[in-house]
Amino acid sequence: MTGLTRRAFLEMAAAAAAAASGAPGRARAAGPAMRTRPIPRTGEALPAVGLGTWQTFDVGTSEAERAPLADVLSGFFAAGGRLIDSSPMYGRAEGVVGDLVARVRPASPPFLATKVWTHGRAEGERQVKESMRLLRAKALDLLQIHNLLDWEAHLPALRASRDAGRVRYLGITHYALGAMDDMERILRSERLDFVQLPYSLATRAAESRLLPAAAELGVAVLVMRPFEEGALFRAVRGRALPGWAAEIGCTAWSQVFLKWILGHPAVTAVLPATANPAHLAENVAAGAGPLPDDDLRRRMVRALEL
Ligand SMILES: NC(=O)c1ccc[n+]([C@@H]2O[C@H](COP(=O)([O-])OP(=O)(O)OC[C@H]3O[C@@H](n4cnc5c(N)ncnc54)[C@H](OP(=O)(O)O)[C@@H]3O)[C@@H](O)[C@H]2O)c1
Repeated sequence: MTGLTRRAFLEMAAAAAAAASGAPGRARAAGPAMRTRPIPRTGEALPAVGLGTWQTFDVGTSEAERAPLADVLSGFFAAGGRLIDSSPMYGRAEGVVGDLVARVRPASPPFLATKVWTHGRAEGERQVKESMRLLRAKALDLLQIHNLLDWEAHLPALRASRDAGRVRYLGITHYALGAMDDMERILRSERLDFVQLPYSLATRAAESRLLPAAAELGVAVLVMRPFEEGALFRAVRGRALPGWAAEIGCTAWSQVFLKWILGHPAVTAVLPATANPAHLAENVAAGAGPLPDDDLRRRMVRALEL
């Protein structure tokens, strides 16, 4: 990393999380500083800020490409992060996650979420095996059907994988707002553990049915695209943080965007993606400290008009 030693960066990530949580000093910074939410099916605690890997982790083998990502992962784990979301659709990302997790050697194992994204049961089973090889995982924590692609073919195989102990939790994802009705229907007809959906200050459609359905059915919610692929930063460029940002411990727009999402009680974890260690430090800090209540969340929507 440039201009910042690795040790200084790790201290910065941990201290940012500690500061946002009100924890005194560095000793409590790693791990406990980040809030966790229970996975409804089991009660297992999951840290509320995860890490997306679409585009950001699709890199080659050069040190110039990989070193910043190793720093992103180190900072993530130092701040108490565990949940990493990938997919065979994300180019080289699964393999890069596998390599770099082995390199940074976190104190506790990551919670590895990936997806099946293909047609047909046999091809799906082959793909899952390949994901495990690339991620260097004997078992996957969460396997999701990416964009519901051929979901009826995959679900029996995924259930068999869960029964055999190769996968711990099953879920579905879709990025399209037009797929939310299908997602709700599937959650109501199949017993799934997780749903991954888009939700942000600019895209609030999930509030009307899908988030309440997930809460009612005891399904954990992962939130994709929390920054609208970065568009939210462009929308507020040049704007000072509003006064209420300090009320919820936000020192950066990224934390405003993430804390607004985490303020919804049905949300289990959010999945910001970054290849930038300084951005990672900002993002993980959103996992600690106060969250906006309903009233402030409504004011945030009105104030920002995103
Ligand atoms: N169908 C699906 O299942 C599906 C679909 C879409 C996404 N997802 C998951 O959701 C994850 C997140 O969505 P996403 O990757 O589309 O977009 P995102 O997380 O909303 O935005 C990522 C963008 O925000 C920038 N960024 C991150 N932190 C920042 C900060 N603190 N300050 C300024 N810029 C910042 C990143 O650039 P820098 O690298 O420069 O920080 C990147 O350009 C994905 O990676 C993937 O794991 C799943």
